[in-house]
Amino acid sequence: MTADTAAPAQTYNYKVVRQFAIMTIVWGVVGMTVGVFIAAQLVWPALNLDIPWLTFSRLRPLHTNAVIFAFGGSALFATSYYVVQRTCHARLYSDGLAAFTFWGWQVIILSAAITLPLGITTSKEYAELEWPIDVLIAVVWVVYAIVFFGTIMRRKIAHIYVANWFYAAFILTIAVLHIFNSLALPVSFLKSYSAYAGVQDAMVQWWYGHNAVGFFLTAGFLGMMYYFIPKQANRPVYSYRLSIVHFWALSFTYIWAGPHHLHYTALPEWTQSLGMVMSLILLAPSWGGMINGIMTLSGAWHKLRTDPVLRLMIVAVSFYGMSTFEGPMMSIKTVNALSHYTDWTIGHVHSGALGWVAFISLGAMYFLVPRLFGREIYSLKLIEYHFWISTVGIVLYITSMWVAGIMQGLMWRAVNDDGTLTYNFVETVEAMHPFYFIRFLGGLLFLLGTLIMAYNLWKTIAGAKPVEARIPAPAMAH
Ligand code: HEM
Ligand code: HEM
Repeated sequence: MTADTAAPAQTYNYKVVRQFAIMTIVWGVVGMTVGVFIAAQLVWPALNLDIPWLTFSRLRPLHTNAVIFAFGGSALFATSYYVVQRTCHARLYSDGLAAFTFWGWQVIILSAAITLPLGITTSKEYAELEWPIDVLIAVVWVVYAIVFFGTIMRRKIAHIYVANWFYAAFILTIAVLHIFNSLALPVSFLKSYSAYAGVQDAMVQWWYGHNAVGFFLTAGFLGMMYYFIPKQANRPVYSYRLSIVHFWALSFTYIWAGPHHLHYTALPEWTQSLGMVMSLILLAPSWGGMINGIMTLSGAWHKLRTDPVLRLMIVAVSFYGMSTFEGPMMSIKTVNALSHYTDWTIGHVHSGALGWVAFISLGAMYFLVPRLFGREIYSLKLIEYHFWISTVGIVLYITSMWVAGIMQGLMWRAVNDDGTLTYNFVETVEAMHPFYFIRFLGGLLFLLGTLIMAYNLWKTIAGAKPVEARIPAPAMAH
C-alpha cells in the first residue's frame, strides 16, 4: 500500500508550507530566548529591571504562548499541510484559505506578543488571550479545518494514511476545547469574565489544559512521527495495525485525564480518582505509539550512527516515552501530593516540550526545508553539533528540575517533633538557587543548538547547492 508516491511537485501548494516552516524556526528562537530570559530571572531576580512588562509574571505566559502556539503551531501547520497533500495526492483544498490561515495565525501571535507583556490576560493558563483574539483563533481554526478536511475529501487514493488521522484528531479536538474553554462575557474590548464559576471553571480549564497537552502537544506531533520517521529511515511503519489501535486508544483515554491537575482541590473526590485511573491507563497507548515509532528502525539501526536527523527524531520519541511514563506516575495522588506546585512538574513539562515536541519538530524541519527549497542541506556536521549541544541542554534542564522539585516537596512537608515546619518558605527558595542556575545553562545550550540549526537552514536556503530534480522518495509500505 502506498502512502506517498511521486506526483509532480508543482501540483502541490508548497508556498504555505515554506512560510510556516520558516516561521517555525523564527518563533522557536524567539520563544526559547524568552524561556532563557525567564530562567535567568529566576536566578537573578534583578533582571525584572523594575519594568512592569518585563516582569516574570508577564513574560512567562509570553514564553508558553510563543513556544506552544507560535513555534509548535507553525510546525503543525507546516507539516500537516505537507503530509496531507503528499499522502492524498491532492493539492490543498484552497490556496486562498491556506494563505488566510498563515496570515491569521501570525496576526494572532503578534497580538499575543503585544497584549501579554501589557498585562492583558484572562489568567487561564495556556488560554490567556482576551476575547477578541480568541474569536480570531476560532475563525482561523475553522478555516484550517476546512482546508485540511477539504484536501482529504479531494484525495486521489482511497486510503487515509495514519498520520492524517492524528492531524485530524488534533484539529477537531482543539476546535472544541478552544471554543468551550474560552466562553466568556466581555465587559469591555479587552476584558471578559469566564462563563463558568468556581470549581466548574477549574474543571473546564483543566479539561482544556490537559487536552491541549494531549492533542496540541501530542497528537499532531505523533502525526509528524508517523510520516517523517518512516521517510527519513526509508522503512515502512513497524506495525500499521498498532498505529490504528494507538490512535483510537489514545483519543479515547486522553479526554478523561484532566482532573489529575486538580488533585486535593474542591473537585469531587471521584472525579479526581477517575482522572488518576485514566492517566494510568494512558501509559499503554502512549508506549504503544512510542514502540511503533522506534521499532520502525528495525533492520536499519545502523542509520542512527550516520544520520543525525534520524537520531534527533528517535531521541524525540524516546523522550515521548519518558514523559508519558513520568506523567502517569505523577498523576497518582500520593505522588502528586509531593510533586504538585514543585519544579518536578517543570522538569516533566520540558522533557516533553524540549525532548519530544521541539526535537520531533526540528527533525521534521531538517527533512522539509531542503526539499521545499530544492537545496542540499548546508552542513551535516552542524546538525551533529546541534544534536549534541541541545541533548546535553535537555539533560541539564530536566535533571536539575527533578532534584530541585523533589527537594522542594520534601522541604515543604518536613515537620519537627513539635509539629512546626522545619523550613520556612524562603529557605526552600534559597535551596533552589544552584538548580535554577543549572537549568538556565541547560536552556542556554538548547537555544544555542537551535541557533546553529537556524544558521544551517539559512545557509541551505541561500546556498549554492541546488538540486535540479529531486528523486522522489520511495513509497511507504505497510
Ligand atoms: C501519559 C501521558 C501524560 C500524563 C498522564 C501526564 C500527567 C501529568 C501530571 C500528573 C501533571 C502534573 C499536574 C499537577 O500536579 O499540576 C502534568 C503536568 C504537565 N504535563 Fe504531563 N503528562 C503526560 C504527558 C505529557 C506530555 C507528552 C507533555 C508534553 C509536552 C506534557 C506536558 C505537561 C504540561 C505542560 C504540564 C503542566 C501543566 C501545568 O500545570 O501548567 N505531559 N502531566
Ligand atoms: C530554551 C528553551 C527553554 C527554556 C530555557 C525554558 C524555560 C522555562 C521557564 C524558566 C519556565 C517557567 C518555570 C517556572 O515557572 O518555574 C518555563 C515554563 C514553561 N515552558 Fe519552557 N523553556 C524552554 C523551552 C520550551 C519549549 C520548547 C516549550 C514547549 C514546546 C516549553 C513549554 C513550557 C511550558 C508549557 C511551561 C509552563 C509549565 C507549567 O506551568 O507547569 N518551554 N519554561
